[in-house]
Amino acid sequence: MDLDPAALVADAARAVAESESADELSAAANRFLGKKGSLADAKKGLGAMEPDQRKAAGQAINAVKAEVEALVDARRAELHALARAEQLEAERLDLTEVHTELRRGHLHLVTQARYRLEDVFCGMGYKVAEGPEVETAWYNFEALNIPEWHPARGSFDTIFVNMGEPESVMLRSHTSPVQIRTMEQQKPPIYIIAPGRTFRTDTADATHLPAFNQIEGLVVDRGITMGDLAGTIDEFVKAFFGHEVETRLRPSYFPFTEPSAEFDISRDDGSWLELGGCGMVHPEVLRNCGIDPDEFSGFAFGFGIDRLAVMRYQLDDIRELVNNDVRFLRQF
Ligand code: DAH
Repeated sequence: MDLDPAALVADAARAVAESESADELSAAANRFLGKKGSLADAKKGLGAMEPDQRKAAGQAINAVKAEVEALVDARRAELHALARAEQLEAERLDLTEVHTELRRGHLHLVTQARYRLEDVFCGMGYKVAEGPEVETAWYNFEALNIPEWHPARGSFDTIFVNMGEPESVMLRSHTSPVQIRTMEQQKPPIYIIAPGRTFRTDTADATHLPAFNQIEGLVVDRGITMGDLAGTIDEFVKAFFGHEVETRLRPSYFPFTEPSAEFDISRDDGSWLELGGCGMVHPEVLRNCGIDPDEFSGFAFGFGIDRLAVMRYQLDDIRELVNNDVRFLRQF
């Protein structure tokens, strides 16, 4: 027998390394380790050997066999791992959860303005009152000293609701009805503000919205004077707009106040800007709510929150507030 162990192991190593699949590897292993393989051939030659030679040759054959087996086992494990990796890759499910950064929103600028107003007035001891958006003629007009024949009714451009007697139910045209509802429910001293939505038949343009927000103020107590009204307006304007801003009252007319005034705030260029209406609560209004005008007096005021937001943020079109363009709203 002419067994060259080193050459055989080298041949086997090459064949094993070149096997690219389990089948190829089995075939290669068979060529060396199988019944008709090289090692089997070599074994056959042992019979014809001298006993001492036979022993050495037998050991050599066994050593080669063990070495080739080890090579085959290693390659098999390698091919198995490769196949497994390929399979995993092919069957891969992408379970990645995409976590885009959460963008935090913020309150609409009208809501921000409203909350700031509430803060300022709550700081002065006021409570926040509410009333319904659909009102009756009594609360929206009559109790506020605006009888049916009164020309002021026309100036409110009321949106009526088709319910009951004609023009008896409406979307409130101002927040003043909350004055009446509050005075009906509680006795003086009363210090409230009433922010909320109001409605008029106005067509939307750069300075008007048919649905807008007002804030009403009402104080009823003993010995309340116009000086308290002027001081309160000045205090709130300074808290809201800044201490450099001045206020003034200008005589005006509202059926539910006597005397009545409009209040203005000063602008940087020295001009004045009208903000809202105010006055001393009309004795008739107090009487309508069961409050004795000889014992109590009060003041009231009302103005638009949307317009306030327009001024504060220097918008050039009030409709921006309701367009809901997020690119616009994000700026504030
Ligand atoms: N309600 C009035 C309006 O919408 C505003 C107003 C004026 C409210 C005078 C008042 C007030 O409380 O005293 O035009």
